[in-house]
Amino acid sequence: MGVKFENVTKMYVGNRPAVKDLSLEVQSGELLVLIGPSGCGKTTSLRMINRLEEPTSGTIYVDGRDVRSHNPIELRRSIGYAIQQTGLLPHMTIEQNIELVPRLLKWDKRRRHERTRELLALVDMDYETFASRYPRQLSGGQQQRIGVLRALAIDPPVILMDEPFGALDPISREVLQTELKRLQSKLHKTVVFVTHDIDEAMRLGDRIAILRDGQLHQIGTPDELLNSPKDEFVAKFIGRLFAFPRTSVDTVRQFMQTGMPQIHQESPERGRIVQIENAPLWCWVDSEGVLKGTSFELPMDKDQWNAARWTDGDLVAVKETDSPGEALKRLVNGDTEALPVIDEGHRLVGVVTHRSAIKALSSGVEERSA
Ligand SMILES: Nc1ncnc2c1ncn2[C@@H]1O[C@H](COP(=O)(O)OP(=O)(O)OP(=O)(O)O)[C@@H](O)[C@H]1O
Ligand SMILES: [Mg+2]
Repeated sequence: MGVKFENVTKMYVGNRPAVKDLSLEVQSGELLVLIGPSGCGKTTSLRMINRLEEPTSGTIYVDGRDVRSHNPIELRRSIGYAIQQTGLLPHMTIEQNIELVPRLLKWDKRRRHERTRELLALVDMDYETFASRYPRQLSGGQQQRIGVLRALAIDPPVILMDEPFGALDPISREVLQTELKRLQSKLHKTVVFVTHDIDEAMRLGDRIAILRDGQLHQIGTPDELLNSPKDEFVAKFIGRLFAFPRTSVDTVRQFMQTGMPQIHQESPERGRIVQIENAPLWCWVDSEGVLKGTSFELPMDKDQWNAARWTDGDLVAVKETDSPGEALKRLVNGDTEALPVIDEGHRLVGVVTHRSAIKALSSGVEERSA
């Protein structure tokens, strides 16, 4: 069951078009990634597919049929939808959350129950342990899995995903990407997947559509985009600029700033706030040294050690085994001077700065040309 955009434009009152003359086709069983700068129209495009928004002009087809000929409520039930905020209902258990749509469709109890078990098994979550819990009793990654399972509940042929892993730390994100890839190789859904993260796009997408100012800028397989980016915009976007020749510096470990973390604040329940050398970054770690958050200001009030103050919910870090190019890419994408470096166990082991990453890269380049 494919999805097709035909000259679709969406105008919001008093704005430039959010989506402009968009034509593109998602094949049945294909995972298409929509990517592009903030505000380029990704979410709007997605929401027009299940009629959470209506196009100003143009037509969207699902399975060859104009979506306007569907009842919007039925259409939404027949298309899976997973979003960054998970949309899980806090007062319902995991089981009740997963069976929300099956219940609306009047599946009998037994069938719903079997489906919930089957879905939890798909992501290796034990039914006995998790089904009766509430969303807040799950980790961020587990909640995100449930969000995806809920989108799969009635086995819809089409699934829309809007930055479903956007709020996760890099390690959980990678785990879920791998899971999604494995699921998709079994289930062959038609998936439209929105992301900001080019690595995620490259990893997951059968094809990637780059949007810019509401327009389709280039579409192709990851290889096609890597090998023949249409212009500088695409080249920059896919990080060709960062595809430096292999330098003598291979990993972040070789040039990150390390040293005894200076402890600024400490609490028995919450852990510590530390600074490595004079890096312009404070890191919050637990008693095991596992990174919980970062901040560019030192919080003065101990009572305010809550996650919201830290990294704004999106914990960006670099792994010590990452390449200098990857580190630089994350620094640039995150528009930040410094990032924490973590080891396999997610423990804080150092800090990279913009300067140190560029230096590491250029030292390698100089060595080569010498
Ligand atoms: N309800 C609305 N009313 C007016 N303008 C809107 C509305 N929703 C979105 N827009 C505008 O439409 C444009 C596209 O928004 P959209 O949410 O689709 O972007 P996006 O690519 O998903 O961005 P992001 O990566 O930040 O999520 C933006 O300029 C946005 O301000
Ligand atoms: Mg969006």
